[in-house]
This record gives sequence, structure tokens and C-alpha cells, in this order.
Amino acid sequence: MKIDPVSNPLDKLPPILKKNLDRNLCVCNEVLKMDIIDAIVNGATSVGEIKKQTFATVGSGCCTQQVERLIECLCSPETKK
Ligand code: FES
Repeated sequence: MKIDPVSNPLDKLPPILKKNLDRNLCVCNEVLKMDIIDAIVNGATSVGEIKKQTFATVGSGCCTQQVERLIECLCSPETKK
């Protein structure tokens, strides 16, 4: 999966996922949603990679689905509307 580096990665997210970017997505490890997006854009395209790089989902794992959703949207070839 290749991510186009020139386009704004946030354009690939549906509006609902663009909210609260400066809030913690993983509250147990205080990982900002934006930090997770950055990690995905920089090549962490699996939950395992995100875990290693940001420590998100390492707590109870409750935010795993949110991380999966972000990966899915950011790594899809066409822009989701
Ligand atoms: S909020 Fe940290 S694992 Fe879900």
C-alpha cells in the first residue's frame, strides 16, 4: 500500500474521523489521534506497527478498532467521501 506524500492525508478521512485530532485516541497511554495519523502516514500501516511506535492500543485494547479504521481510510488508494 502506497500513500501519496503530496496530498494531505486528512483529506482521506471521512469528516467524522477528522474530529478531535488533538485529543487522545488512546487515553490510557495519552496518544493523540494526530500522532497516530502521523505514524500511519509515515508507514505504520498495521495495528502492530502503531502499537510499537505510539503505544496506542497497548492498554485494554479498546481503541484498536479506531486505529484499524484510521489505517483503512488513510491507506486506501482513493479518497473516501
Ligand atoms: S484507550 Fe488505550 S487501549 Fe484503548
